[in-house]
Amino acid sequence: MRLFFGGNWKMNKTTAEARTYLDTFLGPLSSYDADIVLFCPYMILPAASQKAKGTPLSLGAQNLYPKPSGAYTGEISPAMVKEFATYVLLGHSERRIYLGETDSFINEKVRVALREDLKVVLCVGETAKERKEGKSSAVVRKQLRACLKDIPGNNLNSIIIAYEPVWAISTFPGAKPAQPADAEEMHALIKGWFTKQYGKETRVIYGGSVKPDNCEELIVHQHIDGFLPGGASLDPESFLRIINRSLEARKRAKKP
Ligand code: PGA
Repeated sequence: MRLFFGGNWKMNKTTAEARTYLDTFLGPLSSYDADIVLFCPYMILPAASQKAKGTPLSLGAQNLYPKPSGAYTGEISPAMVKEFATYVLLGHSERRIYLGETDSFINEKVRVALREDLKVVLCVGETAKERKEGKSSAVVRKQLRACLKDIPGNNLNSIIIAYEPVWAISTFPGAKPAQPADAEEMHALIKGWFTKQYGKETRVIYGGSVKPDNCEELIVHQHIDGFLPGGASLDPESFLRIINRSLEARKRAKKP
């Protein structure tokens, strides 16, 4: 499957900083055969989309509110996102943990986003406690079932799953990247779930302490279709290195 690289900037960078970043980042992109997306803070999207025009870079928002318009102070509608972005990141564990987002609320957002022709990167992943208790597969299956409830299979081209175990996200205390074999096992499980549910697979990318130094050992695995780096996407050189090294490693591994 075509590789996908999404940079999750979280709540980082001003518009001026984003412009400087893009001055370095955009140049090399045309030589990469992959989908490359930056999930910027909303405030940066207008300037970034102007700079990205005519380049291979796509933009994504980090959230949206599942209503078309109205009295929802502080929220952003799908149509507002669509003016500047083609993707939206939903279900990230930071929103689940800090903002109390539930699977059913995330499901509402996925449905609305797809209806508005946005492409969705949906994050799933277990906590350290759940992994220790041997519940990783059950937790991820439950998240998929609930977050994708009533989503018909003809939407699958617009859905990418990001497997992001909470214990691997670099900013959480004690975080460490998943062992490649553990990530591969969960990716295979997620793809198996899709095949059973919809009769076909979708892309499954990995997120959680992805760095230029560990991307190669992950990407050579059969079911890992790309990455969602957070911290390592904040520096353009480091994100470019992840993309470049992953594509090279995949070529060497002769993965289809
Ligand atoms: P990280 O973040 O690469 O800094 O661990 C990934 C994410 O939370 O999406």
